[in-house]
Amino acid sequence: MKKYYNGEFTIKNLGEEVTLYGWVAKKRDLGGLIFIDLRDRSGIIQVVIDPENKNYNKAMEIKNEYVLEVTGKIVERQSKNKDIPTGEIEVEISELNILNTSDLLPIEINGETLSLEDTRLKYRYLDLRRPELKKNFLMRHKITQAVRNYLDENEFIDLETPILTKSTPEGARDYLVPSRINNGKFYALPQSPQIFKQLLMVAGFERYYQIAKCFRDEDLRADRQPEFTQIDMEMSFANEEDIFKICEGMFKRVFKSVKGIDLETPFERIKYDDAMSKYGSDKPDTRFEMYLNNITDIFSNTEFVLFKNVIDNNGVINAIVVKNNADKYSRKNIDELTEFVKKYGAKGLAWIKYNDNELSGSVVKNLSEKETKNMIDTLKLENNDLVLIVADKKKVSQTSLGALRNRLARELNLIDDTKFNFLWVTDFPMFEYSETENRYMSAHHPFTMPKDVNTLNDPENCYARAYDAVLNGYELASGSVRIHDREIQSKVFDALQISEEEAKLKFGFLLEAFKYGAPPHIGIGFGLERIVMILCGTDNIRDVVTFPKTASATCLMTEAPNIVDDKQLDELGIKVK
Ligand code: AMO
Repeated sequence: MKKYYNGEFTIKNLGEEVTLYGWVAKKRDLGGLIFIDLRDRSGIIQVVIDPENKNYNKAMEIKNEYVLEVTGKIVERQSKNKDIPTGEIEVEISELNILNTSDLLPIEINGETLSLEDTRLKYRYLDLRRPELKKNFLMRHKITQAVRNYLDENEFIDLETPILTKSTPEGARDYLVPSRINNGKFYALPQSPQIFKQLLMVAGFERYYQIAKCFRDEDLRADRQPEFTQIDMEMSFANEEDIFKICEGMFKRVFKSVKGIDLETPFERIKYDDAMSKYGSDKPDTRFEMYLNNITDIFSNTEFVLFKNVIDNNGVINAIVVKNNADKYSRKNIDELTEFVKKYGAKGLAWIKYNDNELSGSVVKNLSEKETKNMIDTLKLENNDLVLIVADKKKVSQTSLGALRNRLARELNLIDDTKFNFLWVTDFPMFEYSETENRYMSAHHPFTMPKDVNTLNDPENCYARAYDAVLNGYELASGSVRIHDREIQSKVFDALQISEEEAKLKFGFLLEAFKYGAPPHIGIGFGLERIVMILCGTDNIRDVVTFPKTASATCLMTEAPNIVDDKQLDELGIKVK
């Protein structure tokens, strides 16, 4: 059995006789001596073969990525490499065994790779040999170990729930699996274990967790995969304060074990409405300021038609101030920013530059003297400030400027990458109006407890006992207090215009279970990949998934999804259109 990790030897091991295994990362032939960087999962160690060595001819044949077993003595290097932990030593080998050869690799795996991502995904098992990528998975492992240990110590029981199941209520499209034995019927892969974990509470497990696979057929982004993993939790006889404390403790443990960082708790909290008005986002990045300013009042009597129309239609005017950077933004740059906010539904972006007590820019000539002065005072404008304004419906004005705020902060390097700013966003709206469905839908899911049952008939002003955990602008988790009372549940279904029959058809088994002494319960689900991404310092979810899918949900290595035999389709009673 392999006994050592190549990357762990140092000058302290001088004189030791060792047998090492690994892959040839690099071979150099220098004036007779052959040097090989032998890589294993821990790093590399240099081995050297002398021309006098009986294995010298064998060593001559070695190429990159051959698999070797070498035995030799650890000696001090003549020319040291301070950049790697094993840089002061090398192994003078006596025995050499070539365990396997390798063809020339189709991708570059040493150092910064220039190979195309598609080729790297096709040869993912080779790409994963890169230490830069491999370290992400060691991190992922350490995180899940810390989570498991912590939750175990806190009396959470690790329970598995089915993968072949019925549609769950998370709001994305389901992945369906046709049934052979029950032709014409389909299983759905779980979008999360939501319903099952609630049933486990009815079953009396009290504290459950699972590192669970979830499947969602939705538009993919840099932080979304069609199959991903949740740290999923549920507990009975507890409230928001309890679950926040448990989760804060979990992150304290994770950060200490994987980064040696003492995380400050409790995390800050902000209400959804306040997050939207201050940051224009329900997952605000609080590592920088550039807050949104609601300047609607300044224009309450305005003659500027554009602003006036917005205000008359119950819209708002929000502004962000880009401090001391106006000179960096030309007309052309601002045109680009305008295109950017349009993606978020804004009709335009007004801009103003402030220099030497003077305003210039797209809307300045339309403002009265009083409005101008008011703006300068309210926004505390200073030389070289750039003001960016979106006048629109409240949500559009907020979300478009919120997105712009993030973009500008990245562009201007305003974000301190060493910070980890956790946040609980609380008091989410209970309902969200869906323009496509023409009705109110659950903002979280239909089992979420309203803050006040009496507000259920006023969907715009009904809030939920729902919360998100946010870290550095990423939504890490969502959770809520669940409804365990049948009467409240049926009122919520009414508010959602879900008929009794529909509710029965979709979640009948859960509603039935709630007849038999369901305890009050609460839960949360964390996106594991997002946690790993942030701790690894990457913004690409594929860097933390062993065999990820592309943006079009395909696996370039296995070529899934793919066609299947007619015979298989026949058995399933399916004909492809
Ligand atoms: P929600 O749908 O908000 O809540 O999901 C919880 C967390 O899962 C992560 N996540 C994803 N990560 C990667 N790829 C995806 N496609 C993806 N979709 C979601 C996010 C998100 O915050 N059952 C509830 C939780 C509960 O109420 O207990 C749920 O699934 O980090």
